[in-house]
Amino acid sequence: MSDIETVAEILSRSKRTAVLTGAGISAESGIPTFRGLGGLWNGRDPMSLATPEAFASDPATVWEFYRFRRDLVARSEPNPGHFALAELGRRYSSNFTLITQNVDRLHQRAGSVDVLELHGNLFDVRCTGCRQTFDRDGVELPPLPRCDDCGALLRPAVVWFGESLPQDVWQRAERAVEQADALLVVGTSALVYPAAGLVLTAAEHGCPVIEINLETTALSQFVDHALLGKSGEILPQLLASLPA
Ligand code: OAD
Repeated sequence: MSDIETVAEILSRSKRTAVLTGAGISAESGIPTFRGLGGLWNGRDPMSLATPEAFASDPATVWEFYRFRRDLVARSEPNPGHFALAELGRRYSSNFTLITQNVDRLHQRAGSVDVLELHGNLFDVRCTGCRQTFDRDGVELPPLPRCDDCGALLRPAVVWFGESLPQDVWQRAERAVEQADALLVVGTSALVYPAAGLVLTAAEHGCPVIEINLETTALSQFVDHALLGKSGEILPQLLASLPA
């Protein structure tokens, strides 16, 4: 039996499947990952672009970085990896939870529903004054966007380093992984916590963990099956190996 067939068998027997994705799943859509050559954090300091302190001291630079990413994602399309996960979600419906660290919304554009966005997304903004959240998808933003209601600065509705994850989303993600019979971990370096901790939670519960990545990661030692390669190739193969 090939590695993919072994994993397909685990998935087909699983009553509750959870998936955790990271930037690697969107790499084949032309969106850079964070770490490694060509990554967003290569030559850029995350502490000066993705922290509340950076936004307080230089909001224009932070907004420039997020506008660049919004524009890039708006010009990109979901890839076969996103579509394969959307199809998995349809097949397993209520017993399938897709958790992502990504802020690009490509899972939703591929047709996934109820995606748990641990780090927010690039298209909502939040007012630093009245705290309301607004959808600004498809809207061209000025260098320093302001709230229509109270006039305070708007910020990207993403989670920055040093900030808490949205508690309701995090609790749903933890619960899904605690109850899962299989966890797929796709395209993440598994270095950023608490998200990476979901892999350890699964391993502690004896839940089979399957990693799909170009290379081994910080948490590969806790993984039961590692499928090395591009998620845009492996996920469609996995889907094709599952009973219809
Ligand atoms: P990273 O850039 O840390 O890791 C991307 C992972 O994807 C690496 O392990 C790559 O080997 C893998 N990869 C790249 N291309 C791939 C492909 N085609 N198929 C499969 N795997 C591939 O990105 P994340 O793990 O998502 O947080 O980073 C986690 C968090 O750190 C992000 O959400 C972001 C970042 O700083 C915040 O901004 C708060």
